[in-house]
This record gives sequence, structure tokens and C-alpha cells, in this order.
Amino acid sequence: MDLDVLLAADKAHTWHPFTQMKAWCAPEHEPLMLVEGEGAVLRDQHGREYLDGNSSIWTNVHGHRHPRIDAAIRAQLDRVAHVSFLGSTNAPAAELAARLCGLFPTNTLTRAFFSDDGSTAIEAALKMAVQYWQLDGRPERNRFVAFDRAYHGDTAGASSVGGIAGFHGRFAGLHFPVERIGGLEDLARLERPETIAAVIIEPLIQGAAGMRVWPTGMLRELSAWCDVHGIFLVLDEVMTGFGRTGTMFACEQERVFPDFLCLAKGLTGGYLPLAATLTTERVFRKFLGEVAELKTFYYGHSYTGSALGCAAALANLAIFEEERTLEALKPKIAHLHTRLDELAAHPRVREVRRCGFIAGIEVGPDKASAYPWDELRGGQICTAARAHGLLTRPVLDTIVLMPPLCVSTAQIDRAVEAIRRAIDEVCG
Ligand SMILES: Cc1ncc(COP(=O)(O)O)c(C=O)c1O
Repeated sequence: MDLDVLLAADKAHTWHPFTQMKAWCAPEHEPLMLVEGEGAVLRDQHGREYLDGNSSIWTNVHGHRHPRIDAAIRAQLDRVAHVSFLGSTNAPAAELAARLCGLFPTNTLTRAFFSDDGSTAIEAALKMAVQYWQLDGRPERNRFVAFDRAYHGDTAGASSVGGIAGFHGRFAGLHFPVERIGGLEDLARLERPETIAAVIIEPLIQGAAGMRVWPTGMLRELSAWCDVHGIFLVLDEVMTGFGRTGTMFACEQERVFPDFLCLAKGLTGGYLPLAATLTTERVFRKFLGEVAELKTFYYGHSYTGSALGCAAALANLAIFEEERTLEALKPKIAHLHTRLDELAAHPRVREVRRCGFIAGIEVGPDKASAYPWDELRGGQICTAARAHGLLTRPVLDTIVLMPPLCVSTAQIDRAVEAIRRAIDEVCG
């Protein structure tokens, strides 16, 4: 199919996520079609190049077409692409489970339950928590505590613990029971903590909230509160995992090892849909018994433990060691932060929030006020930034900058400059 036919087919037959399709399908809108990638750069249908400023929706880690991951997927294809994880196992999945658990201190997270996406990793954690308490003879522990502005995905359970009204409010009547809190100060007002199954949080930084950073020490305190009340802690590292915050996992920075830890996005280096819900031996053991005891975790997806995805994930982990990715990242984080400090002085930049290699740049008419949300300034800035070689997306008026970890300092400079020029153009 030639390009025009393909774009017409897209407009006639696809439905894009988080997208107002009226604007997308308008005759004057030419969809961006990404056709190639290499390292931190993507190329569109006209051969124009962009820095992948949001790591292809927070997934890509070591760059596009990394030879190590490409080769691992090809080698697995020569054996088998997919086999059921229900009633059989496969070599990459077994090895990956061991390697993932090996990234955490002994006797913390020892079991990996595979699924497909961030949402399903969360869904599995929530259901495991509820079933654990049922099997423990405490079925009344069946509600969750989650944070305002949290985002944990869009399946029904994951959206129950989300706190972004525009995304989750519509389905509120269909959700799991959840108490929403703004911060630690609200924990004290929670009634009947003995009926709470688990608390869930995006550690160190909330992503879809607009890159909002939690105070230092908050995670540690939350974990201690959970311990006092015997409540499970679920950490959603779907965005923060795999180096984004400067350490392999965000939880390491506060030495918190939870009851459940959810991984997806960067797990395969951003190549294939694969997720893992890690948990402890204590949780795992509770589900053991005779079939007739009905303790089994009756939950799963067709592509659970996908051999191709697990092969990609093993290569992703190997690159961290072989290329000493986290060491190489340190000076890049320092460089990014220096550039962001300069950008923070811009009169239309209200606030720059950052955590390791994740940044959110919020614009406003001045330092103290916001643009009306429906002016969509953030979206306009991201569109303008394309002309300067940067591809990224906003969260309302916050521009996300979160490139693959392989990005160079020169590319960081160009990305920040693209944002500055786009802000000038859109906000004056
Ligand atoms: C923190 C967090 N959790 C969960 C999800 C959901 O992941 P997925 O889109 O793969 O279902 C996201 C997606 O952006 C996320 O940022």
C-alpha cells in the first residue's frame, strides 16, 4: 500500500488510544507515521528525524534497533515464537523470572507472575492481594488505598486505583473499593485499617499526574505504616523501572522492598508487550494446596510468559551489565538537570519537575498561574517541537522529557533547545 492509502486506511479503520478521533480524522490532519528508528532517533513517513523524547511512551530503554535485543528476538524466532505458559514453561521465561528476582535482595521478591502490560501487572497484584486475605481467613481485607492523581493503567482493577478524574471518573461506579489519599498526612484519617488489603503507589514520582515527585523519605514512611497495620504495599514501577530514576528500580533509593512490585514498559527494553508482577514467598505459599482447596490463582492471559518477550527482556538486562548503562547514565542525568535548570528560568515555565532521567516541564502565562486547560498549550508545544526535531507528548500543560537512556548529551541539548523554541513560539 502506498502512503496515502495507508493513511486513509488508518483514518477509516483504526481507533487510537487517548485520542479525540474527530480531530485525528479531520481532512487537514496528516497523521504522523513512524517508519524507522535507530538509537534515540525515530524517522517519519517523509524521512524527517526526531529525538524520541518520551521513549515511545516511556518504554524504550537502550534505543531502537539495539543489535543485542534484535539478535535475541531473531534467535528466539528460530526456535519458537509463542507457546502456552499454562501447563508448560519455556526457557526464556524461566531464566527471566530467576534474573528479575535476582535483582532484589535475597528473600524479598522471589516470584515473578508474567502478563502483558502495565495494567495487567497491576490487575494481577490487586487480585493476588485480595485472594491472599481470603485464603488467610480475613476476607474483610478487601479494599485498597491509592493516591490522588495516580495512574496505574486502564483495565477495570487498575483504573479503580487511578486518581485522574478525566480518565477514571466515568467508571467510578464499577470500580473496586478504594480510599483515595493525597499524601501521608491522610493516612491517620483512614478508618478501619484492618479492612485494607493493600496500598498502591508509583514510587518516587507520579507519571501521568504530570511527573510529580514525592518528598524524599515518603516511600520509606509509607512502607513503615503498612508494616504497622499489616497491609500489603504494591509498588507500581511500570514507568520508574529499568533505570529511569537513576537506579535500576526507584524503590532501591529508599531501601523499600514491597509485597508486590509491578514491571512492564521497559522490561523488554521497549520492544514487546510483557509485564511481571513480582511477589514474596510469603504471598506465594498462601496459594499452595490441593486443587480441591480452590487456592489456585485463577488468573492469566494468552500471551503470559511470551518466549519472544522474555528473550527481549533477557537481552535488555544483559545490556545493563555489558554497557554499564546505569554508570553511563549518571553524568547524563547531571547534564540534563543543568539544562533543565536553565529552562526553568524561562518566563513561561512555571515549574520543572525531575527525578533521575524523567522530567516534566510545566508551562503557564507566568510563574504563578496556569493556562485554561482547553487551550491545549502543552499539545501545541509538542507539535511545534516536532519542527525542531523532538517528538514527545504532554500531560496537559506539562511537557514530558524522558528520552531513552542511550541518548547522548548533545541530543539532550537539542531536545531542551527544541522545547525552549517551541514554548517561545506557542506562548510568546
Ligand atoms: C505508572 C504506570 N502504571 C501502569 C501503567 C499502565 O501500563 P500499560 O499502558 O502498559 O497498561 C502506566 C502507563 O503509562 C504507568 O505509567
